[in-house]
Amino acid sequence: MAYTWFKAFHIIGVVVWFAGLFYLVRLFIYHIEAEQEPEPANTILKNQYQIMEKRLFNIITTPGMLVTVVCAIGLLVTQPNFLHQTWLHFKLGFVALLLGYHFYCARLVKLLEQGKCNWTSQQMRAMNEAPTLMLVVIVMLAVFKNSLPTDITAWLIFGLVILMAVTIQLYAKKRRLDKEKQLAQMEQLPQQEA
Ligand code: HEM
Repeated sequence: MAYTWFKAFHIIGVVVWFAGLFYLVRLFIYHIEAEQEPEPANTILKNQYQIMEKRLFNIITTPGMLVTVVCAIGLLVTQPNFLHQTWLHFKLGFVALLLGYHFYCARLVKLLEQGKCNWTSQQMRAMNEAPTLMLVVIVMLAVFKNSLPTDITAWLIFGLVILMAVTIQLYAKKRRLDKEKQLAQMEQLPQQEA
């Protein structure tokens, strides 16, 4: 029974953790783009994003990560035989990467607060694809375990995930270029009228 409780809360923790990670990097994108706004919007927006990032990281993302990890330890204590299984070793490798990503996000919150973040919003959008890939791989390992499918269906699904990520990036780039073109046209208008 304890095992089922741990598993239920392990999955709830994963959902909360990822909701936090995805939204946090979205906020980083808006925070970086606020830099292009004129004053006073620039300062007001940056202060607001700073508060939202800190609260999201401390109240949602980190507790989600802790619930996931604590319940995972509970799962391993109640079913220690998992510790000898290869899928779990791979899964732990990806979880280590995910934890690195989590703590790097904490560093980005600080760098953005100090105005020392050198990332562009386009780079940040690309970075937001990393947890998506880790989520897919980790969940596949947890569900399929040592019999991870390598047939055509699996490759098609994998290709679809990659295609979705690339489409999102290209669409964001197109929107940015359209906005830049629109701004350049608006700047030219007063000059033409003069
Ligand atoms: C902190 C390290 C982690 C460990 C040691 C761990 C370990 C485990 C174990 C032992 C199970 C039970 C497997 C079963 O009953 O069949 C499980 C289930 C699961 N884990 Fe993790 N896990 C970790 C992190 C994660 C993360 C980060 C994710 C998501 C990205 C995740 C997603 C899942 C899912 C979806 C299940 C349910 C699988 C099923 O019932 O078929 N786990 N995990």
